[in-house]
Amino acid sequence: LGVDASSHLARKIPDTLFGIFFEEINHAGAGGIWAELVSNRGFEAGGPHTPSNIEPWSIIGDDSSIFVGTDRTSCFRRNKVALRMEVLCDNCPVGGVGIYNPGFWGMNIEDGKTYNLVMHAKSPEMIEMTVSLTSSDGLRVLASAAIRVPGGSNWIKLDQKLVAQGTDRTSRLQITAKTKGVGHGFRTELISMLLDLKPRFLRFPGGCFVEGSWLRNAFRWRDSIGPWEERPGHYGDVWNYWTDDGLGYYEFLQLSEVLGAAPVWVFNNGISHHDEVDTTAIAPFVKDILDSLEFARGSAESTWGSVRAAMGHPEPFPVKYVAIGNEDCGKENYRGNYLKFYNAIREAYPDIQMISNCDGSSGPLDHPADLYDFHVYTGSRALFSMKNTFDNTSRSGPKAFVSEYAVTGNDAGRGSLLASLAEAAFLTGLEKNSDVVHMASYAPLFINDNDRTWNPDAIVFNSWQQYGTPSYWMQKLFRESSGATIHPISLSSSCSGSLAASAITWHDDDNSFLRVKIVNFGPDAVSLTISATGLQSSINALGSTATVLTSGSVMDENSFANPNKVVPVTIELRNASEEMEVTLPPHSLSAFDLAL
Ligand code: AHR
Repeated sequence: LGVDASSHLARKIPDTLFGIFFEEINHAGAGGIWAELVSNRGFEAGGPHTPSNIEPWSIIGDDSSIFVGTDRTSCFRRNKVALRMEVLCDNCPVGGVGIYNPGFWGMNIEDGKTYNLVMHAKSPEMIEMTVSLTSSDGLRVLASAAIRVPGGSNWIKLDQKLVAQGTDRTSRLQITAKTKGVGHGFRTELISMLLDLKPRFLRFPGGCFVEGSWLRNAFRWRDSIGPWEERPGHYGDVWNYWTDDGLGYYEFLQLSEVLGAAPVWVFNNGISHHDEVDTTAIAPFVKDILDSLEFARGSAESTWGSVRAAMGHPEPFPVKYVAIGNEDCGKENYRGNYLKFYNAIREAYPDIQMISNCDGSSGPLDHPADLYDFHVYTGSRALFSMKNTFDNTSRSGPKAFVSEYAVTGNDAGRGSLLASLAEAAFLTGLEKNSDVVHMASYAPLFINDNDRTWNPDAIVFNSWQQYGTPSYWMQKLFRESSGATIHPISLSSSCSGSLAASAITWHDDDNSFLRVKIVNFGPDAVSLTISATGLQSSINALGSTATVLTSGSVMDENSFANPNKVVPVTIELRNASEEMEVTLPPHSLSAFDLAL
């Protein structure tokens, strides 16, 4: 064998000469080099179709105990199929019903190792599930954990570590449940309407209901917790009906959790409409409220936190806001009682924001507070012009909580378009002043059509139907404003006296928008040029929309017979650009969402 090593014959071997060739063949990747244990984890096998092929997932249970199907409702744009699982059994088998996945010819689960389970789930009601790694017949459990999906319309990402207590080379993953939704007893259609408003807080349980006409009939949180059947109930003597307090303090906290809204607990401060506890005797009432906060926030081992835990909620509820009474500022013992509650709560829970009943919008309060309550019920013209209410409010001191606002009286009827437009104009003013106005909520929220004590309201229902008044739909056009960015606007039009407007930028998971909202409170159509400058990116006609709330007559209302008479209508905005002509219909609220 001879070798000629002369340099002129020599040649550099490419650096890249030797490598490997991978092909996805023989499960080389899926079920092979890719360390995913679950086979067909997205239920998409067979393509993004309904029904999809869920193999090799199998069902634990029979037709009478569980329903399993697929639909295209997942939270992923590119992976649409989701598995739908409905637990049907009241007395489910001990091990529960559900689904299992055998992996790729079994999962190799090894003693002491940790396995990360990530899943996205949603359930209209809170539900507890068990995730476990078991032997291939499901009889031997190697690792198991209980996971809770809070009720609601949002997908929740769940991360769970499973530590194996044994080794099995052919294990499977099980996802099971033993009960139907355990959580709440709320009416799903009504909850869904609330979820659509994306509320950031829930103020509860009143109103005058908190005060009572007489103290003996005020809402008492202690009587409203524990097993439903044991609660004494009470007569709400302001609105004149009996409540069994099934919807009690615990359930309000639960509702705030379901909605993803911060709870705002309005408690009785020893003052009703007709009688008061003197400040010298208020101490037991203060202790009672401290106990309510321990019930919500205390550890599962604390005296009251353990009661909450026994009711099925070991984790604390994040109560960060309390209102010390309702509409009691002018009462004899208000300031005295207020300070007793304020000081005790500040000491025990320094992070809790306290809300005074006294209006601080036009002058400083004479007592400490984090926020002050502001209520307004008036005619449509008056509320329209109140859009400037907070323009001159001091920028230091407590913030405003406009916890009740609405147009009432003849302009409102049982929920007119006119009322909603004045309210929208008022809200544009709150948006602009959101450096001093931190929270706002329409009131009242609900009305059962069989007890029309207070009109109008946002949501009307009876035993089987429901609809939103124009004021409900108006609020939907403001829901993206929480947490958005507000921009200054200037308005010059011969009609500007009957216009109100605001501009925000907001974004959803995929896109950002400049939203310009304009109320045309007048009877004539208005033509306007919207011009936007200083944007970080240009406006895209594709994806831009205009949503308009209007109707043939300004006094039009919705009803069970015609629930969609006055609802927003969305159209594509093909001429969207930095400078665009728009026409505002008479008596309308328009929201222009300009895609960025
Ligand atoms: O929203 C109806 C009532 O109006 C509330 O109970 C009270 O706070 C206000 O007077």
